[in-house]
Amino acid sequence: MSINHPNFGQLADDRVIIFDTTLRDGEQSPGFSMNLAEKLRMAEALAELGVDVMEAGFPIASPGDFESVRAIAETIKGPVICGLARTGRADILRAAEAVAPAERKRIHIFLSTSPLHMKYKLRMEPDEVLQLAIDSVRLARQHTDDVEWSAEDGSRTEPDFLCRCVEAAIREGATTINIPDTVGYALPADMHRIFTMLRERVPGAEKVIFSTHNHNDLGLAVANTLAAVAAGARQIECTINGIGERAGNAALEEVVMAIRTRPDAVPCKPAIVTEHILRTSKLLSSITGFDVQPNKAIVGRNAFAHESGIHQDGVLKNAATYEIMTPESVGWSKSSLVMGKHSGRAAFRDKLRALGYGEVGDNQLNDAFRRFKDLADRKKVVYDEDIAALVEDEGRDHDRIRFVSLDVRAGSKAPPRAELELEVDGQVTQSDATGDGPVDAAFHAIQAIFPHEAKLLLYSVGAVTEGTDAQARVTVRLEENGKMVDGQGADTDTLVASVRAYVHALNKLLVKRARTEPAALSA
Ligand code: KIV
Ligand code: ZN
Repeated sequence: MSINHPNFGQLADDRVIIFDTTLRDGEQSPGFSMNLAEKLRMAEALAELGVDVMEAGFPIASPGDFESVRAIAETIKGPVICGLARTGRADILRAAEAVAPAERKRIHIFLSTSPLHMKYKLRMEPDEVLQLAIDSVRLARQHTDDVEWSAEDGSRTEPDFLCRCVEAAIREGATTINIPDTVGYALPADMHRIFTMLRERVPGAEKVIFSTHNHNDLGLAVANTLAAVAAGARQIECTINGIGERAGNAALEEVVMAIRTRPDAVPCKPAIVTEHILRTSKLLSSITGFDVQPNKAIVGRNAFAHESGIHQDGVLKNAATYEIMTPESVGWSKSSLVMGKHSGRAAFRDKLRALGYGEVGDNQLNDAFRRFKDLADRKKVVYDEDIAALVEDEGRDHDRIRFVSLDVRAGSKAPPRAELELEVDGQVTQSDATGDGPVDAAFHAIQAIFPHEAKLLLYSVGAVTEGTDAQARVTVRLEENGKMVDGQGADTDTLVASVRAYVHALNKLLVKRARTEPAALSA
């Protein structure tokens, strides 16, 4: 029997809902926090990718979270926009307010049900927890007819109690029931057993969508997701590049392509535009500054690379010998070399659209184009990744501190020395400093121009593309009074990229400071 869902209507038995939680569970993981503009850009890309539900955040968590869920609800058309809430009245009302402007909206309530969580985290008896489930779903239903209820730590919950809670949530009007493997403990056979049990034993199960949400602590998130789908789950919770708490969540790209590649074994249809997968993955990497590992399935640099002669020979004769899906089906182009120093502004704008940046404002376009020309002079080939890195670097119109120039002396003969110029609130200031290495000297020069107390927690360097002329992408993490921010910078010169990343982080910190202490706008 097919389900009649308030937001999706009559659902065919083989339709599987893709619920993306990159902006909530994904953003929650260390180093992956995004600001409002970045979340909006990511949300647009997710809508173009065709996700059915977008969990935009946890509105009660902070004013920033509320604002971004609200902004996404106001601007993003297509997917159902979902806000997360605990069972408390304040949580649910805040989530309801944040998603209110959306054309299609959902409130997602979660509540721990495992013996361990009830005893130590909630300090509640099972009957009290059951009552909370009832009251919270009832309240949420007063604000939207699409309510998802999650049994946190569901995979370690005692089966009879899980059935009682799920039955109560359905009776109160929950339309999706999610059973998370919160700690990534389950094996595929466990997931299959849990969903089969719920569908067989719980009265009303036939009226709701069962959802699966798997963490990757044992590297089994995708396998567990597919096992749940085989047992009748029809919503998959996942994230781009598998980001999320600890070891992450099931990766959207892996789950979707497993289903698409093996219709014989998983007879389900996700409505994802798979050709957009790679660009969405790259957008996330460039926003967060964290690349996926080269051998990452589907989106890793080597996912479709054939190194051995035997494999290359086979692929040339017939690609299917060693490729189970085409690279183009997930967005890889045959060659990612596209732009050179003769490319004009219109081609550059077109390229940005193709990379998923939508309409870039004239100022940002001009600055990025100028840097692109400069890069094309210095670098033999300019790849999509280079352009993405440039645009990410330029999209910061409101920054108080801007990079102007850097001159560094390094080597084995004299202590490293950096001469730096930064523009602070419109005024160019110069400084020079020494340090234990050129990066340290450059960072001391920043400190001299803009004194601050923030601690440097992380400094990481990666190459945007291959080759010795590749741009370096640097991530810098700063911490001040418990507030943590990540900054990114890209340049063919690693030291310039380092200063850009540091300055980016500092600007983010200033925005955070201004939000909490509006008067303290100076260093
Ligand atoms: O992992 C988890 O249990 C969660 C819930 C909030 C659904 O993320
Ligand atoms: Zn989770």
